[in-house]
Amino acid sequence: SDNGFFEVETPVLIKSTPEGARDFVVPSRMNPGQFYALPQSPQTFKQLLMVGGMDRYFQIVKCFRDEDLRADRQPEFTQIDCEMAFVEQEDIMNVLEGMTKTLLKDITGQDFQDFPRMTFADAMQKYGNDKPDIRFGMEFVELNELVKGKDFKIFDDSELVVGINVEGIADYTRKQIDELIDWVKRPQIGATGMVWIKFQNDGVVTSSVNKFYSEEDLKKIAEKFGAKAGDLMFLMSGNADKVRTQLSALRMELGNRLGLRKGNEFAPLWVVDFPLLEFDEESGRYHAMHHPFTSPKTEDFHLLETDPGKARANAYDLVLNGNEIGGGSIRIFDKDLQSKMFDLLGFSKEEAEAQFGFLMNAFKYGAPPHGGLAFGFDRLVAILDGNEVIRDYIAFPKNNSGRDVMIDAPAPIHQEQLTELELKLDLKS
Ligand code: AMO
Repeated sequence: SDNGFFEVETPVLIKSTPEGARDFVVPSRMNPGQFYALPQSPQTFKQLLMVGGMDRYFQIVKCFRDEDLRADRQPEFTQIDCEMAFVEQEDIMNVLEGMTKTLLKDITGQDFQDFPRMTFADAMQKYGNDKPDIRFGMEFVELNELVKGKDFKIFDDSELVVGINVEGIADYTRKQIDELIDWVKRPQIGATGMVWIKFQNDGVVTSSVNKFYSEEDLKKIAEKFGAKAGDLMFLMSGNADKVRTQLSALRMELGNRLGLRKGNEFAPLWVVDFPLLEFDEESGRYHAMHHPFTSPKTEDFHLLETDPGKARANAYDLVLNGNEIGGGSIRIFDKDLQSKMFDLLGFSKEEAEAQFGFLMNAFKYGAPPHGGLAFGFDRLVAILDGNEVIRDYIAFPKNNSGRDVMIDAPAPIHQEQLTELELKLDLKS
């Protein structure tokens, strides 16, 4: 409010918007056979406010997403939602970084320098994760040149061999190491195996693949890791994207087990330059990585025609301690570019018009350049309290099956209500 942001409440009974998750829907009695959707976020409304001449909006707002629950997700959660007009990415990041610094200072008493920034590509390469926890090291080291061509077929056949160095745990026993190997082989992680290299306290370097690599080979690898006596290295291999995700899970697990993820230490980070689109194998088409209103980077416009999957977006996430606490972007404000975007996302002209005609029509009257960000309020509060389970910070949260166990919801409704809504249930089970 001190910065001239104006609070506006937007409707809760709205129309389905494709923002990634499923919508919760509400039948309309006055319009039989038609449904409202509960907002996954006030995205299109805040953009309309900018077109309508408002230039700084905020709202502390309930959002609803019918998605599978995890520790950091609830079906209804709260955003601190912001939007600004006549701005570029830098302006938005500066204002909202300022707010985050103030919050951090008020709550933790700590002063923060300017938040570091990392591109999405770097985050994936160094941490296998677009929301890296940078409170601890174990950065990824890629090893293809050093490990291939030594007759170790598993590495020779892999797209990527990559590892982490864990300081000071060379005294792990075979049993402890085997337990970690079993951990990465669980279906949730899905690794096929893991190689270890030990830099023993006596200076000897040994490994689970001594048959293929001489001690000299192993020392070269250890050097690439920057490892020293007392360290233990773990190497994984396979398809580049998959192996990065698997190694990232191991890195976080070790961070937890070794007490490196301290609840009273805070490491904010901006992740920038996200891809605009991601290809979904199942549906065989592109999906918007952030949402369909996100603008591509000007220098990547030409890629929309030739190689859309490579185009980067003016999109940014705010990460705190390995959690995404906010996400936003600069929006498309040109009708033709928005229409091109819907086209890339597989909407026909008619579908785009039916779903988003209201927004493209608004753009016709001249929309200002605009953009914004939404913080996940529940996540922010949990992390500031040194926790990651947001359920503990919400009064009357839903359990893992999406139930409110206090009032026992959801629940069936009376036949009269169904009749009034002109709905007939035909449940399979
Ligand atoms: P996004 O989908 O990234 O962006 O959401 C913004 C932030 O909301 C939080 N969040 C959640 N918190 C708890 N439970 C959930 N199910 C959940 N889903 C998301 C996260 C996330 O960073 N309209 C855009 C914002 C914009 O572009 O301005 C949006 O909603 O912390």
